Amino acid sequence: MKVLEVRGIWKRFGNKDVLKGVSFNARKGSAFCIIGPNGSGKTTILRIIDRGEIILDGVRATNLDGRGKVEVRRKMAMVFQQPVLYDADVYGNVSLGLKIRGVEGRIADERVEEALEAVNLRSRKKDWALDLSGGEAQRVCLARALALQPEVLLLDEPTANLDPANAAIVESAVREFAEKERGVVVFATHNMFEARRLAGRVLLLIGGEVIEECDAGKFFSNPDDERSAEFVRGGIVFG
Ligand SMILES: Nc1ncnc2c1ncn2[C@@H]1O[C@H](COP(=O)(O)OP(=O)(O)OP(=O)(O)O)[C@@H](O)[C@H]1O
Ligand SMILES: [Mg+2]
Repeated sequence: MKVLEVRGIWKRFGNKDVLKGVSFNARKGSAFCIIGPNGSGKTTILRIIDRGEIILDGVRATNLDGRGKVEVRRKMAMVFQQPVLYDADVYGNVSLGLKIRGVEGRIADERVEEALEAVNLRSRKKDWALDLSGGEAQRVCLARALALQPEVLLLDEPTANLDPANAAIVESAVREFAEKERGVVVFATHNMFEARRLAGRVLLLIGGEVIEECDAGKFFSNPDDERSAEFVRGGIVFG
């Protein structure tokens, strides 16, 4: 899988249009960043992608039947803004998705080890997940997604609760996935610094509208839209 497309996403909650025709292509090899202030619609876009409302390498997954859609969804793994953990140890939490997909035994063990290594939590395998700190919990959720070896990784505010050292661990795991595994990464953040460190391409979303989409280098040095420049300066932007 080389390119994930979303085309003209509109989303209305009640009488409020939360997404107003969002389109973009995310390509493998570098991370695609959706940046925007709180409430701009970032999480809503990731959820819609995770549901399979996408085009993969030109094939419109939206039109697939039940089984086709399950296959498409199996190519993707999403890490939510709020960590979701189960009442089990770290190993049980990371291996859960594999178990659901029928991957167990030695292969599962290896994948879990590898994923925990990537987020620097290998020594915590037997610890109870619900006793973990917020930052550790977030890394366990990333490990669970990585263990699935997805083609598309969807990350919602991946380092929002992490201190600088742990943010660096997560960012290098994501970069490795995007650059070495050569998968598609779409991540959402309101944090300009995170976007600067991770993004290959940036889309600025304000009030559900795409303000600008361009390479990260251009976005951070010479964007076309004044609101992008203001966002990069750390100013307040309005829709
Ligand atoms: N299920 C829902 N029902 C009603 N309104 C919703 C629902 N989900 C999201 N919204 C609204 O849609 C808008 C966009 O929400 P969304 O969570 O996508 O924003 P976001 O960009 O991820 O914000 P944040 O940076 O705070 O995570 C918000 O105004 C939110 O209140
Ligand atoms: Mg959000």
